[in-house]
Amino acid sequence: MSAPLPRVFFLDQSGDLGGAELSLLDIVGQYRGEKRVCLLSDGPFAAKLRAAGHDVQMLPLTSGVRRGSGVAEMLRSLPHLARVIAGIGRSARAFDVVYANTMKALVLAALSRPLHRRPVIWHIRDILSADHFSPLALKVARSAANLGTDRQIANSEATAAAFRAAGGHQEAVVIHNAIPTGAFHPQNRASLRTVLVQETGLDPANPIIGVFGRLAEWKGQHIVIEAISKICGCQLAIVGGALFGENAAEARLRQKVADLGLSERVRFLGFRDDVPALMGGVDIVVHSSIQPEPFGRVIVEAMLAGTPVIATRAGGAIEIVTDDATGLLVAPGDVDALAQAIARLIADPNLQQQFSEAALIDAKARFSPEICFPRIDSVICSVAGQQPPPSSAGR
Ligand code: UDP
Ligand code: GLC
Repeated sequence: MSAPLPRVFFLDQSGDLGGAELSLLDIVGQYRGEKRVCLLSDGPFAAKLRAAGHDVQMLPLTSGVRRGSGVAEMLRSLPHLARVIAGIGRSARAFDVVYANTMKALVLAALSRPLHRRPVIWHIRDILSADHFSPLALKVARSAANLGTDRQIANSEATAAAFRAAGGHQEAVVIHNAIPTGAFHPQNRASLRTVLVQETGLDPANPIIGVFGRLAEWKGQHIVIEAISKICGCQLAIVGGALFGENAAEARLRQKVADLGLSERVRFLGFRDDVPALMGGVDIVVHSSIQPEPFGRVIVEAMLAGTPVIATRAGGAIEIVTDDATGLLVAPGDVDALAQAIARLIADPNLQQQFSEAALIDAKARFSPEICFPRIDSVICSVAGQQPPPSSAGR
């Protein structure tokens, strides 16, 4: 009989449901070894984990650590963090591997290492560059990764390259996110569109663009609003909420919609649990990040929904979409290029179909749980000094 899988202590500071947390939810769900998820704030992520029957440990932080706050701020509150670090150290000792899912989780896992003395994996989900982080945050992340972790998993080649450029000593293992396909029904797009039209009151005779993701400046929803303003009748469903304390973004977007006189054509649907259905209901999904997207789950989800996708040519998005074959890529922040790409797709239903069929096949092949999760299990086993389980062999 093979040895039991290593016991894993997963660590993530967030209570909100970002892509990193949704990915971790799947990773924890499929991991067959003993496991616990330790979080530093309560919220929808903890609720989802508990609902799935997982062991959730809460080590609440009353201040200092939010996803949107700087690492400098976190360091200043170190005295306050000391208790949490001690708690992580004590708890993680009962496990074989510590798996840090976010940048601040990395720092805490590294700082508590003298207490838990367990190998640490950092799943890097951010592009470590000046676009996204302050020089101090980059320095802290680099030191924590180089001194306090044994292995790094990068969510894309782009993330791995940025880690290298930021001074990461080891070569991170690139493992793209897996997206389970069960909730996607590309064959039902017509009826999903009818449901969306009924819910939103949008005009079924005119195109409906969808943009999915948290409302934040760098996600570029404002670019999509401007682009659709240039296309007669074109409508937009904006799906997502403000996460990690970034509350100003929504007000700015609503103001832009009002300023451009687009209130009749744009709907804000807030954070939703039925993204696959909504994606199937829109005519085109636009991914609009104006900074390099580390990976971009929403792009793969659009492909699985059978909906043609336009993404920005940067970061992980270019590892997902092949321009002019499985979708279209446009320069980040370029309103005119986006408007042209939307107009081109709207005008050509054959092209839409060609892209979405190719994209569905490609996404199922490259982002399947069967490929991605065994590779994560292998990394966990290797840092614990174990052979990977048979299902991971050869991957
Ligand atoms: N998402 C969601 N509800 C929403 C908006 C987004 O569940 O209203 C999900 C979306 O389906 C995707 C994730 O949030 O799985 C966002 O991940 P992505 O990698 O695209 O971006 P991130 O927010 O992690 O930077
Ligand atoms: C982060 C990144 C996003 C990525 C997700 C899952 O939240 O911003 O691009 O898809 O992690 O790895």
